[in-house]
Amino acid sequence: MSRIELGKGIAGLSKRVLLIVGGGVAAYKALELTRLLRKAGVGVRPILTRAGAQFVTPLSLSALAEDKVYQDLFSLTDESEMGHIELSRSADLVVVAPATADLMAKAANGLADDLASTTLLATDKPVLMAPAMNVRMWLNPATQRNLKTLQDDGVRFIGPGEGPMACGEFGPGRLAEPPAICEAIMLAGKRVVVTAGPTAEPIDPVRVLTNRSSGKQGYAIAGALAELGAEVTLVSGPTALPAPIGVKRVWVETAVDMLEATKAALPADAAVCVAAVADWRVDQVFGLKLKKGKDGPPTLTLVENPDILATLSASGPARPKLVVGFAAETDNIEANAKAKLARKGCDWIVANDVADAWVMGGDENAVLLVTKAGVDRWERAAKTDVARRLALKIAEALA
Ligand SMILES: Cc1cc2nc3c(=O)[nH]c(=O)nc-3n(C[C@H](O)[C@H](O)[C@H](O)COP(=O)(O)O)c2cc1C
Repeated sequence: MSRIELGKGIAGLSKRVLLIVGGGVAAYKALELTRLLRKAGVGVRPILTRAGAQFVTPLSLSALAEDKVYQDLFSLTDESEMGHIELSRSADLVVVAPATADLMAKAANGLADDLASTTLLATDKPVLMAPAMNVRMWLNPATQRNLKTLQDDGVRFIGPGEGPMACGEFGPGRLAEPPAICEAIMLAGKRVVVTAGPTAEPIDPVRVLTNRSSGKQGYAIAGALAELGAEVTLVSGPTALPAPIGVKRVWVETAVDMLEATKAALPADAAVCVAAVADWRVDQVFGLKLKKGKDGPPTLTLVENPDILATLSASGPARPKLVVGFAAETDNIEANAKAKLARKGCDWIVANDVADAWVMGGDENAVLLVTKAGVDRWERAAKTDVARRLALKIAEALA
């Protein structure tokens, strides 16, 4: 017995997940996860490992997924209908829940001796693992090495959580709760480009025109979007920040470079322009370092930089479905934000009052979200909280 046919199948659904269920006590939660995903309109195609089938039945999984359950690498029927390579690519995302120590070890080392591990090796789709195991198994250096290897390979992880375990021990190793796993795939299959940080416009080989933006808010937004499963390109001006996990960072210096890198990241479902882009650059960059002299200070002629937000917002086939701009204002915030929304042609403006000394470079922000539907005031909160709230709103808008 290798599969059970029920299936409406997952073709045609807007988001499709290949769910690999490994052999752990927490496998029963994969049933609840499947139910929640289906309820949210997500297609679920399950792969059940041999050990997984000791914990949950293919029948339960299949009934909840409304699709057949794939179990056998060598099933000829499955190969003729859907080979393991095709299976590995039939979804937007591969979720492993529970991810056993064994599955992590196999994936980290490229082993492929059953359908689950072969699929993990063959897929070209993003992979999210939700590990669950005894605390000693989790903390074992071998598992931690495998975790690091998989993270370096671009696998995303959710959990494990900490708490009492089925084996009677206490510690990290509990499967993340199914609603949290659902949240982690809200933006699966969506591409988002985020700009962050300042730009640096050269004057001569050693001097630049720049601003006080730290990049913290933009980096937090890129990270929060990745946590919801989006494929995020972060186009960053010079900052000292580490790249958020799961985010592809592209370094740039000038506004012109930032525009080019942002355009290169298209097509995208959404663009979030958080960078503090210099409005002007020096007309003629001096080839040699300027020196003090009898002629007095040099005169710098400035020219306008390209408008990245307006460029992305302009209608056309490359326009992301949702374009969000940030406005750093020191006065008349709401009026200025509304005017900016209309002027740039973007969908939302997130306005913050940078006259408050704690905003620029700080860890907190208070913003106004201005959309065509109205104005929403978000009270002072950690930039990471503002980022998460915005990311959830973006996920809602793209659903
Ligand atoms: C009762 C029982 C519970 C188990 N629970 C877990 C677990 O929670 N996490 C884990 O990594 N392995 C657990 N194992 C061990 C796995 O089932 C075993 O490593 C198996 O080979 C995993 O196969 P798979 O990775 O193909 O699913 C458990 C084994 C038994 C007998």
